Amino acid sequence: MARTRLVAGNWKMHGSRASNRALLDAILAGMGNAGAQCAVCPPFVYLQQVAERLRGTPVAWGAQNVSEHAQGAYTGEVSAAMLADFGCRYVIVGHSERRHLFGETDAQAGAKFAAARAAGLTPILCVGETLGEREAGRTEEIVARQLAAVEFAGGVLAYEPVWAIGTGRNATPEQAQAVHAFLRLRVPPDTPILYGGSVKAQNAAAIFAMPDVDGGLIGGASLVAAEFLTILRAAGAKGS
Ligand code: PGA
Repeated sequence: MARTRLVAGNWKMHGSRASNRALLDAILAGMGNAGAQCAVCPPFVYLQQVAERLRGTPVAWGAQNVSEHAQGAYTGEVSAAMLADFGCRYVIVGHSERRHLFGETDAQAGAKFAAARAAGLTPILCVGETLGEREAGRTEEIVARQLAAVEFAGGVLAYEPVWAIGTGRNATPEQAQAVHAFLRLRVPPDTPILYGGSVKAQNAAAIFAMPDVDGGLIGGASLVAAEFLTILRAAGAKGS
């Protein structure tokens, strides 16, 4: 069976009620029959607004982070059950900004992945190497280590080279394919593996044409409806 193709927007810490409304309206108006699954991941505080707008539409929604704990005295944290309560289908786990700016460990990513699964969510696990690690020839070692910390089943995997995130410097389609093929052997065969890191309307089709790239996790370009829709259509057109 063909693997699910997915384009997920990671809005990061962007948006307002007014800009979210305009963005969602434009996505829904323009998406037509996209041919790929589509999701957006807004900041926690906007999940209610996004859920109200997207319920009953083909666009799913998710969160950008989740607590590894089920409940309790964890000030500022949000549990997987709370995300499920707001209709989230997805949650991003182990994003490089969480790992590098907030000190999240491989073990925490593993615990968050398990917590998400236990609440019925589909975790999108991010793995990826820094520029120094790539230049030292350690890319496979790093992504294998990040993946090994997770009991991976029932999730989506995203390869996001840290040096390509928000930098305008994307991996070449061949670089992405090489790592995706490496990861493919280490996850269940039906796992969608997304590429993330400076995916734009202009480079999406070439990256998605690679055999082991099943879609994208999109940061900056997910905030611009026309860009995001072009990327979504590029994923939908793959192989057709
Ligand atoms: P970018 O971010 O598309 O802005 O590079 C991707 C991500 O962080 O998921």
